[in-house]
Amino acid sequence: MTSDECAAKPPQRTQVGIVGAGPAGLLLSHLLHLAGVDSVVLETRSRAEIEATLRAGVLEQGTVDLLRECGLGERMLREGFVHQGIELLFDGSRHRLDFAELTGGRAITIYPQHEVIRDLVRARLDAGGHIMFEAHGVEVLDFDTASPRIRYERGSVSRELVCDYIAGCDGFHGVCRQAVPAAARSEYARSYPFGWFGILVRAAPYSKELVYAHHERGFSLVSTRSATVQRLYLQCDPADHPRDWGDERIWAELDERLATRDRWTLPRGEIFQKGVIAMRSFVVEPMTYGTLYLAGDAAHIVPPTGAKGLNLAVADVQILAAALAERYTTGKAHTLQQYSENALERVWAAEHFSWWMTSMLHRFSDDDPFGHRMQLAQLRKVIGSSALQTALAEQYVGAPLPGTAAYLKASPPRGRNRRSIDRADSSNLPG
Ligand code: FAD
Ligand code: DHB
Repeated sequence: MTSDECAAKPPQRTQVGIVGAGPAGLLLSHLLHLAGVDSVVLETRSRAEIEATLRAGVLEQGTVDLLRECGLGERMLREGFVHQGIELLFDGSRHRLDFAELTGGRAITIYPQHEVIRDLVRARLDAGGHIMFEAHGVEVLDFDTASPRIRYERGSVSRELVCDYIAGCDGFHGVCRQAVPAAARSEYARSYPFGWFGILVRAAPYSKELVYAHHERGFSLVSTRSATVQRLYLQCDPADHPRDWGDERIWAELDERLATRDRWTLPRGEIFQKGVIAMRSFVVEPMTYGTLYLAGDAAHIVPPTGAKGLNLAVADVQILAAALAERYTTGKAHTLQQYSENALERVWAAEHFSWWMTSMLHRFSDDDPFGHRMQLAQLRKVIGSSALQTALAEQYVGAPLPGTAAYLKASPPRGRNRRSIDRADSSNLPG
């Protein structure tokens, strides 16, 4: 069934109603499908828009393993780049951290988020999945009961979807987290006095692996997208606009911030995309309320320095899908009730890593020469200690996902899992 056919006959009932077709929402829908659980995804934007939004590039080993195990690995394995380390550049020298050696063979894969999205959309639509693009005015209702509803508009028609559960996968600015009564959630946040200015350049790869560079003028990062397109980031003022950054200014800053004693330089290429990214840390606790479950950026944000955001979204929905599958297969709600606690353990570890990498590598507005030397001392300690290198490497490649996809093997591969929910078991409802 195509998305247009779905549009002609929008479902009015489903087991799990999913708000948001980002990596979290789409992967949750795919994993639930493999476990025989029905879902409908509601997305404000069009398919073309979600497939064209440039964001993350780094996939942890556990993310790659999960995508492969659930049948989404073909293009990623063919087109992605496996990196077995990163470099830290500071004080004019580049230092390599060998992830494969430090972590027993684990690695990261560079495969852009919008390609993951394209693979997921195709897989859902090929399997007859329901993704309602351009669904506006989404409201989540009655999620303090066992029959939550999602109201939305498509065209000028108002519609309703009745569910057993709602998954709020609608990103940081979505409606699901805000719908939880303020008294029932605690929010923890930190904003940073800088942003990242990101560009895409037509050029051959500048480095075999990603380079994270510390400099007194500010952080910079050399990443890649393909044999002919490179991704570069520069610490900037969060209020900057792309028009503030002419090409000459960009190259001059990169030359200064990436200068090494052995005179590493980046050959110029055509800069064809520019954008500013805000930096913040944020967590909401708990990640559930009644029959509403938050996942991904809807529940937490990390600054991008640790490359954790997309990977955390994947970890959340892996935990949530397994818990929902168990609920429908066995009727037991215990794992579902543990969802927030289980997900938050990984979330806070990633928050700490992302904050630590950000603090070590960026220039802060109140930095004085003492602060700058503290950062250099920390960086020297990292590269001088195999224990600290291992700690950084383990966190960067990510801990294995809990029981990756094991539940899929125990679940019906294609048939719908229609076991009804025991309505008497309302132990997950508030009050
Ligand atoms: P989102 O991707 O934000 O998806 C939410 C979806 O919900 C969107 O499609 C949105 O349109 C939709 N939506 C919003 N509101 C509504 C509504 N009311 N109704 C219906 N739909 C709605 N992470 C990494 O792991 N590695 C990296 O290398 C990395 N680099 C990054 C670089 C940049 C420049 C940026 C900006 C982010 C980066 N991240 C990275 C973070 C990563 O992109 C996010 O953490 C990830 O997109 C989170 O996925 P999500 O599905 O939770 O949310
Ligand atoms: C990329 C983004 C990140 O946040 C990061 O830490 C490394 C690489 C990227 O977009 O390539």
